[in-house]
Amino acid sequence: MYRTHTCGELRLSHINHEVTLAGWVQRIRDLGAMTFIDLRDRYGITQLVADGTLPEDVLNSIRSLGREYVVQVKGTVRERSNKNKNIPTGDIEILVSSVKVLNASVVPPFTIQDDTDGGDELRMKYRYLDLRRPSVRQNLELRHKMAQEVRRYFDEQGFLEVETPVLMKSTPEGARDFVVPSRLNPGTFYALPQSPQTFKQILMVAGFDRYFQIVKCFRDEDLRADRQPEFTQIDCEMSFVEQEDILNTFEGMLKHLFKKIKGVDFDKPFLRMTFEDAMNNYGNDKPDLRFDMKIHELTNLVKGKGFSIFDQAAYIGGICANGAADYSRKQIDELTEWVKRPQIGAKGLIYIRFGADGIKSSIDKFFNTEELAKIGEVFGAKTGDMVFVLVGDKKKTLGQLSELRLEMGTRLGLRDKDTFVPLWVIDFPLFEWDEETKRFYAMHHPFTSPKPEDIAIFESDPGKVRANAYDCVVNGVELGGGSIRIHDQELQQRMFKVLGFTKEQAEYQFGFIMNAFTYGAPPHGGIAFGFDRLVSMFAGLDSIRDTIAFPKNNSGRDMMIDSPSIISDEQLKELNIKVALKE
Ligand code: AMO
Repeated sequence: MYRTHTCGELRLSHINHEVTLAGWVQRIRDLGAMTFIDLRDRYGITQLVADGTLPEDVLNSIRSLGREYVVQVKGTVRERSNKNKNIPTGDIEILVSSVKVLNASVVPPFTIQDDTDGGDELRMKYRYLDLRRPSVRQNLELRHKMAQEVRRYFDEQGFLEVETPVLMKSTPEGARDFVVPSRLNPGTFYALPQSPQTFKQILMVAGFDRYFQIVKCFRDEDLRADRQPEFTQIDCEMSFVEQEDILNTFEGMLKHLFKKIKGVDFDKPFLRMTFEDAMNNYGNDKPDLRFDMKIHELTNLVKGKGFSIFDQAAYIGGICANGAADYSRKQIDELTEWVKRPQIGAKGLIYIRFGADGIKSSIDKFFNTEELAKIGEVFGAKTGDMVFVLVGDKKKTLGQLSELRLEMGTRLGLRDKDTFVPLWVIDFPLFEWDEETKRFYAMHHPFTSPKPEDIAIFESDPGKVRANAYDCVVNGVELGGGSIRIHDQELQQRMFKVLGFTKEQAEYQFGFIMNAFTYGAPPHGGIAFGFDRLVSMFAGLDSIRDTIAFPKNNSGRDMMIDSPSIISDEQLKELNIKVALKE
């Protein structure tokens, strides 16, 4: 037997027990007469103590130990004189009788503790050492627990977990595909799934009724803190349902997770907001509702007062930051620089300060106190508040105001990580116009159904057609999205037409699903949640990276296995890929 107990298990009740532990050496303190060793495994840390009464050979092997050596230790549990209240095993220690080195370790490149001295790159290169750190391990433990609860919930609701292929055909989610060359079919490629969208719809045609899968998806897109090229979805589809059924079922899943994992009870239904309201009031289709600070449009109120910046602007809007009236000149200048950064792109920042000593603004020359007070009224501004105004093109300015709102929310401490405000954003537009390619794209994907009442304007005014599509947003993070699908052949053809697909193109890319649909497709719809994002929110992390055991870095590289990498000429030849491509 390698061990009788784990390193997280022993308590005062084990005093005088003879035990065997196995684990990694976390820390050694040699005090001459006594040597203390912290032994670590997945379950915790136990203090070992060796004193001069041990035989010389045992003492020698203890002296030879280094950090991260793997050892097996026998000894007796005794009460510690100097207790450590910070760890569950802190009341006891093991008086060592023998030590066996199971494996030596070279000196690790960074300290294996939560407060590590290792930078990002180093930690990713030596991810197996990084994963030994309790905080990283705990994220994976949380991920495991959440996956179990997801499965439990869906099983209880009668969902079947079905695996869909990883080697498949390009899916229409809008990102670039990762492709895999086929040796047996020279010149052709599989695509890795951006999502199992088409397969899950086909499962509905096959009569599976309720499907879910915790599944890897692959998207070749630019990476950010909440994006990985390889990520995991909780992917779901249901038959004979309307939007309302879907929202209720998946609201149920989130409530189940929040209750089981975080102990948070939501007694009220999640808030709902149309896409249009989200954009107009928050400048964003995933508003963070932990705080109010709505955007208000001022265009009609402030135009025509002789201030050329306003008079020339297509849109003028602002936010009111409660309690920010005491912002100093320096702070305002710094915030102005912040909104002018290329990432935000505003031309400048106008402020109206509602101070105890009266209203003061950067536009005093053009607006008297009465007029400024009128602007304040739009926001319900009180003494102590500060209104910030941005101007420009409507879409851009709303986006900038959205960023400014989030920044002020952060600066004013309104975005507490332990407060959760879930929201359904509904009534998304079906199409999105792309200026560059001068065509419409499906905002969600081409199988999303329009609202029945908007079908009349499908061809005449596609931009105005709303979809039966919804996103689940929590604290400004898009956790999931889905839609009711088109199950009517004729409507699907019209959809492809608006998207600019010729009959042949549609047939080539989606023939298999359109064909399947001719055999009795039930009305159906579904949703997919980003599992990594969900775990990262529950763990209170800013990035999804540490919810993934072996993530990629920002350039899509796995630093540990050093991929992607060049493949041999033989492999390329076998795959019928021209070697010249390599150079
Ligand atoms: P969508 O593209 O909105 O919908 O994706 C669903 C959810 O997946 C997560 N997500 C990501 N997470 C990490 N890294 C990424 N690169 C990444 N991309 C997306 C997000 C997102 O909300 N097939 C449809 C769902 C459906 O219609 O049923 C789909 O994939 O949390």
